[in-house]
Formats: sequence, C-alpha cells, structure tokens
Amino acid sequence: MKKRVLFVCLGNICRSPAAQHIFEALVERESERRGGLEHSSGEKLEIEIDSAGTYGGHAGDLPDPRMRSAGSRRGYSFTHRSRKVRSEDFEKFDLILAMDDSVYESLSRLAPTVEALQRLERMIDYIPNSDYTYVPDPYYEGHEGFELVLNMLEEGCANLLDVLMGRADER
Ligand code: 4NP
Repeated sequence: MKKRVLFVCLGNICRSPAAQHIFEALVERESERRGGLEHSSGEKLEIEIDSAGTYGGHAGDLPDPRMRSAGSRRGYSFTHRSRKVRSEDFEKFDLILAMDDSVYESLSRLAPTVEALQRLERMIDYIPNSDYTYVPDPYYEGHEGFELVLNMLEEGCANLLDVLMGRADER
C-alpha cells in the first residue's frame, strides 16, 4: 500500500515545507523503529511526501530563514525548494492538505474532477484541540508565530500518521 501526501500553503516557504519535513522525520523514525511501516491491516505501507504553494512567487527558494532556524532548533533541516502546485498534483497524490481556507478555496478551483476534490482536506482537521480553525500564516508574524506553527504541525503530523497507519482509534 502506498500513500502520497502533499502539504500546501500559500508561498511554500513557511508552513507546508515545515509540515513536509516534520512528517518525513516522523515517518523515518517510525520506520526505523519497526523495520518499515506497516498498516494495522498487516499490509506494508509506504508514504511519499511533498509540499507546494498556491502562489508561485517564491518558486525555487529555500524555506524562509526564520522557519529554517526555528526548525533547526528542534533538530529539523528544512531544505525543500518552493514550487507552485499544479492540477496534475491531484492525480499523483492521495491526500492534499490545505493549511488555511484561502488555500483550500484555491485548490478546490484547481481540482480537475469531483473525484480529485475528495482528496483535498484541511490540515487543521488533524489538530482537533487547537484554538485555531486554520494553520496561521507566520510570514508576517514574529518568533512566536513560527513556534506556534511548528507545535501545531508536530501534533497534526503525529495524528496524520496514526490515521494513515490505520491506528487512529487506538489513541
Ligand atoms: P507560507 O507563508 O504560505 O506559509 O509559505 C507565506 C510565504 C510568503 C508569502 C505569503 C505567505 N508571500 O506573500 O510572499
């Protein structure tokens, strides 16, 4: 079984590359601990992860330096190069996670078919105890914005992995 997950924000330099690398680190840790990922059904599980932005103005850029340093303080290395999301992403990925409502709306317009639209979800739905109804954009915020977003994404990615592994009910 293979699951392909795409995280999407506006610029693809703050929230979604952070989510991508946090989720990659989590998947790698889980995989090393158990000698590969296994779905609760017993089937071997592979997870492919990427991120993109609805605005292409930062294409080719590394994540924002403030996000990179906030990430490195937690042991992550955020090295993804920004890219704009494309309609073909709806064919490649099983799950597309939007960071906020505006990104969700842009992605719904980009979805080529009604079936493709069903692969679109909100990241906040994996962070059920948050005070927020979306993952806030830290781009114009201070230091606390980045820490808040990293806390939210670490929690959301852990919940997402539980869901993909079919063990969400065990929590
Ligand atoms: P992100 O943050 O969507 O989390 O990557 C932003 C980065 C850049 C811009 C907006 C949001 N921008 O307008 O350039």
